[in-house]
Order: sequence, then C-alpha cells, then structure tokens
Amino acid sequence: MTVSGTTNTVSDTGRAASEATATADAAPLSEERPEALRPHAEDAFAEELAALAAADDRPRPTNWRLSPWAVATYLLGGTLPDGTVITPKYVGPRRIVEVAVTTLATDRALLLLGVPGTAKTWVSEHLAAAVSGDSTLLVQGTAGTSEEAIRYGWNYAQLLAHGPSRDALVPSPVMRAMADGMTARVEELTRIPADVQDTLITVLSEKTLPIPELGAEVQAVRGFNLIATANDRDRGVNELSSALRRRFNTVVLPLPATPEAEVEIVARRVDQLGTSLDLPSTPEAIAEIRRVVTVFRELRSGMTSDGRTKLKSPSGTLSTAEAISVVTGGLALAAHFGDGVLRADDVAAGILGAVVRDPAADRVIWQEYVETVVRERDGWKDFYRACREVSA
Ligand SMILES: Nc1ncnc2c1ncn2[C@@H]1O[C@H](COP(=O)(O)OP(=O)(O)OP(=O)(O)O)[C@@H](O)[C@H]1O
Ligand SMILES: [Mg+2]
Repeated sequence: MTVSGTTNTVSDTGRAASEATATADAAPLSEERPEALRPHAEDAFAEELAALAAADDRPRPTNWRLSPWAVATYLLGGTLPDGTVITPKYVGPRRIVEVAVTTLATDRALLLLGVPGTAKTWVSEHLAAAVSGDSTLLVQGTAGTSEEAIRYGWNYAQLLAHGPSRDALVPSPVMRAMADGMTARVEELTRIPADVQDTLITVLSEKTLPIPELGAEVQAVRGFNLIATANDRDRGVNELSSALRRRFNTVVLPLPATPEAEVEIVARRVDQLGTSLDLPSTPEAIAEIRRVVTVFRELRSGMTSDGRTKLKSPSGTLSTAEAISVVTGGLALAAHFGDGVLRADDVAAGILGAVVRDPAADRVIWQEYVETVVRERDGWKDFYRACREVSA
C-alpha cells in the first residue's frame, strides 16, 4: 500500500467524512445558531477579537490569530487606541495570564491547575479562542476516555467496505489541531486513565501522531499546542506520570485574593449569564452578591472576615463558580416570583444547597454559622430570617 501525502490531507478528508455523515441527516449538527444558549467564546466575543486583530501590530507566532500581547489583553481587558473596550474575561494576577500565553508560544504544553471553580475551563476556552480563533477542538477527560478520543477513530461503514484508508479515518480534535496548527484542549486530564494519558507523550514530545494502520503519521504544524486542565481535588485519582508532567508548564489558578475581586467576578458573570437567560439586570443586586461572597469566603477560610471568630468549614468547595450559580438562581427567583429585586430570601436556599453537601455534618456547621455569625451581624436581620426559614 502506498501512503504518502501531507498532514493536511488527513485532517481534510477526516473532516469531509464526518461532514458526509452529518448531511445524511437533515441538518448538520454543528450549525451555528444565533440563539445558541451558550455561544463559543470566539462567537460571543467576535467583535472584540476582530478589533484586537486590527489594532495588533506586534509579531504573531506562526498560525496565531493575535500576538501574545493581544491575547493577554483579550483575557485581562483594556482599551485599544481606537477606543474599543476589551472586557476582562479573567480577573486575577496579570503575570499568570502572561505566563500561560507565553507557554503556548513555546514547545511546551500548558496545564491549568487549581481547586474547582477557579476558571480553568473558562481560561482555557478563551485562550484557544484568542490564539486560534477556535475553542472547540476539545477532548473531555473522564474515566472512560479512550485512546481513540485522543488519537483517531474509524468510520466503521467505510472501514468494512474499503479497509483502512484516509477516508475511513475519523481524526480526534487533537489530530485536527496538529494538522492545522491550532490549539487543542483536554479537560480534566487527571481523570483520564494513566495509560490513555500517555498517548499524549508522543504528541507533546515528538509532535507527531503515528497512524500505523496506514503506515502514515500526522506531524504537528507550527502553531499547534495543547491546553489541559486538572482539578486539585482529583489529584491522586490518576496522577500524571512524571514523563507527561515534564511536557507541561503548570500554571496554578488561585482563588480570588480579595472579597472585592470575587464580588467583581460574580457580578460580571451574573450580568453576562442574566443577559443570555433574559433575566432583568438589577444593579441593586450588588449588595446581595457581596453577602453571598462574604458567606462563601468566611466558610471557605474557616474565619469570619474580621478575623475574630474561627469557624468550621463545610465539605463543599464553595467556589466562585458556585457563588455565581447561587446569585443567578436568586435573580431568576426574584424575576419570576418576586418583585424583580434580589433579596435575602432569593439567595438563602441556594446558599444552603451549596453549603450543605453532607446532610449531617454540614447542616450542623451551617446552623452554627447562622446562629453565631449571621444572627449577630448588623444589617443581616433579613438574611437571618431567610436562613431560618429555609433550614426549618
Ligand atoms: N478569576 C476569575 N475570573 C473570571 N471568572 C472567574 C474567575 N474565577 C471563576 N470565574 C468564573 O467561574 C465560572 C466557573 O469557572 P470554570 O468552570 O472555568 O471553573 P473550573 O476551574 O474549570 O472548575 P472545575 O474544576 O469544577 O472544572 C466561570 O463562569 C468563570 O467565569
Ligand atoms: Mg473545569
């Protein structure tokens, strides 16, 4: 069998094959619709990305849509010379973003590590959108992720009819990213079984993906890199082998350093989510957001914000991401069943749900917090009453 040809052919025929399968049904599955519940970052922020590309006169690595400087500006926000405002996507230390972006321009892959809800997935998506204009080359890591999901699979109808051929090959997102010089993403890397993880070693060190069945290989084109995310709490489940770990630069995403930063993150995301869920925007919500963030931070750190009283921490993570859900849920309650203004009793049930994961131990911790901290705090009478009502 003579198999030659460029890396691009593999990806193109692979894509053609999956498109052919899609058109067999009435409509292609991936068609972009204006009413998508959650548009991809590159679509949601297309205008900002275009403005950045137009203003960006710094050198761009091969196959990058933007320079590293513009990618960092896209993530951290800023104002362009023509007045275009770039909204901050990530709120946190500038240096972290700079290191992450720079890593992608080197031959090392990027591993975003952190406790749950520290925006690892969010940052990974926005980095891919800014660097490659496409955040969808994604492998979701689970205990069931197979080697095929990382390398390639086969269209079995084609395979049985014609044997192994380029037409029968179904490339993985990683293979497509390699062939086209794009950013691939692997979510929850440490949940993937260790032997499957090791498939990535050749990809990351040799920058090639062999296809023994065809006697061929896909060589990574310049611009290819990979962003993986992993949860601190999953460590130990399938810890990364040191061989794989060495192929990554690890960037740890911290919890928001100050209450103000966390309030800003929650307010910003709630506002964006509210818009896509058609919830009315309520500027008054900020007081309630501050309260949710205070409760979460105090219970997380095991200390009241004035540093005077020690507290027990519940088993839940009480992440920023959960604070965002509590406030979004509260806004929906206020909009549909209240007077539209976010109040204590709209968030109390959500907070209780986030805090009490273990019904026995967490409930005791929560009740102690309500009776000793919430009850005594000036201006928290309404919240105390709401907490009593939902825990009754
Ligand atoms: N520092 C931050 N800046 C901006 N947004 C943040 C920040 N921290 C959390 N968020 C928000 O929290 C939400 C959840 O983040 P994300 O899902 O990326 O977390 P994660 O770290 O991947 O969590 P998990 O480990 O559970 O997968 C996102 O909507 C994100 O906008
Ligand atoms: Mg995640």
